[in-house]
Amino acid sequence: MSVVGLRESWSIGPVEIPTRLVLAPMAGVSVQAFRRQGRRFGAGLVCSEMVSCAGIEHRNERTLGYLRVAEDEHPLAIQLFGSEPRTMADAARMVEAAGADLVDLNFGCPVRKVTKTGAGATLLDDPDRAARIVSGIADAVDIPVTVKLRRGLRDGSRDCLVVGPRLVEAGAVSLTLHPRSAQQMYTGAADHALTAELVSLVDVPVIASGDIVSRAKAQAVLATTGASAVMVGRAAQGNPWVLEEIVDGPAREPTREEVVAELVLFVRETVRELGERRASGFLKKFYGWYLGRGRFPRPFKQELVVLDSTEEVERRLIAAAPGSLELIEQLEAEIPSGDEVTLELPISIYGGG
Ligand SMILES: Cc1cc2nc3c(=O)[nH]c(=O)nc-3n(C[C@H](O)[C@H](O)[C@H](O)COP(=O)(O)O)c2cc1C
Repeated sequence: MSVVGLRESWSIGPVEIPTRLVLAPMAGVSVQAFRRQGRRFGAGLVCSEMVSCAGIEHRNERTLGYLRVAEDEHPLAIQLFGSEPRTMADAARMVEAAGADLVDLNFGCPVRKVTKTGAGATLLDDPDRAARIVSGIADAVDIPVTVKLRRGLRDGSRDCLVVGPRLVEAGAVSLTLHPRSAQQMYTGAADHALTAELVSLVDVPVIASGDIVSRAKAQAVLATTGASAVMVGRAAQGNPWVLEEIVDGPAREPTREEVVAELVLFVRETVRELGERRASGFLKKFYGWYLGRGRFPRPFKQELVVLDSTEEVERRLIAAAPGSLELIEQLEAEIPSGDEVTLELPISIYGGG
């Protein structure tokens, strides 16, 4: 089996991507702090969580917040979900205006709230509409259009092999395949034999998503599928070190100080992005993700999740690993801070015009 260089650059259309690792879009996870951290640890491309086209159409304040891009996130994709070609084309124009390098379309979300509106994985059952959405967006924007899909709606489905090439004909310049059915949700295993079949059917780069948890797995999937890159999702939750391992190897357990330093930085950045009230609830799941994996005793996480303020969380974390303070200062000094790197959205985005 030939070893594929995960540090090799590649391209989607004119967008050059410095490594073969893409950080997965994850709703409720892929905030700016997650994406910027992903870039620091070796992801060549990062993606926003799925953003509602209806929310953009109605100028929902929270939805528009998802369009904020920081300078050090590039290259970055913003992902849209929806089902109406016209609304989606309008939303794609906003994504372009917001400074994204790519607009990605979600044709894979299996969650009922999304599928019942005809969006997400439902589009795999409606290839005509899916193709109209892609061609409408390709006409509306200059940035490349990419699509992320599942294998199909039902177990054993091979619909992605029919829909995928149609989307490329309609103007998609890259496809990401998560080869599970919508019905499977996250059970069973991602069947990357299907990824290999898709690669052989299209002449655009394919990204392999699903169960990439180590360098060995990433190399095996790249070599056996011919995919251009791997996408990493759940394995990176609270564990940016796995990205470093996948891109550069070998695996390395971070010290407690490193874990605390990354988590404190993550907390601070997320508070800057979402505000204290939203961030304090949002962050709770991350405490378990960072502190688990045998890194800290279980009761410590339970202590943190009941605290009301993130300042108090930060104090407890630093008290548990005082050596982290120096690392936090270093990290804060290295990364461009907060507001000045966040691109201003054009006024019209907020003004509704
Ligand atoms: C919490 C969570 C949220 C997700 N949200 C999205 C999303 O917004 N858009 C999307 O295309 N995929 C989403 N996914 C799917 C992931 O991008 C990825 O395809 C899937 O988790 C398989 O990869 P993994 O095994 O590396 O996690 C989500 C997955 C998880 C676990």
